[in-house]
Amino acid sequence: MDKITKVEIITRPKKFEELKAALNEIGVLGMTVTHVVGCGVQKGSMNNYRGISYTPELVPKVKVETVISEVPVEAVIEAAKKVLYTGEIGDGKIFVYDIANVIRIRTGDEGKKALDNTI
Ligand SMILES: Nc1ncnc2c1ncn2[C@@H]1O[C@H](COP(=O)(O)OP(=O)(O)OP(=O)(O)O)[C@@H](O)[C@H]1O
Ligand SMILES: [Mg+2]
Repeated sequence: MDKITKVEIITRPKKFEELKAALNEIGVLGMTVTHVVGCGVQKGSMNNYRGISYTPELVPKVKVETVISEVPVEAVIEAAKKVLYTGEIGDGKIFVYDIANVIRIRTGDEGKKALDNTI
């Protein structure tokens, strides 16, 4: 079976265009982009401040999902880190998943072949 991986990047919306360009540059063409809200680990701020507890605030983020087989996963991670790193809280997260299969409906292609954008 072909090795197929999904890389999901959740980060600051203002970084989206630069991220997309960097991914295109290394051969990533197919992606799903969603505007989401989320929160991560609230570093440096407490959920209970002077006895008053509050819910961590949901912050607008952009989620970029790309499913790849030819482009190395490490290349996607490196490109994303290079564009997205500021060192400030909220730079984002990258999640990596194994994908069981991909089916292109029009042709019936499966696996790696279904991801080939040249046919
Ligand atoms: N454990 C998690 N599960 C699901 N989604 C998460 C998780 N952690 C973060 N996210 C998503 O990733 C987005 C970006 O997270 P964020 O950059 O705030 O990460 P963090 O772990 O809090 O790091 P930082 O300290 O840099 O803020 C969140 O808004 C949320 O949508
Ligand atoms: Mg955070």
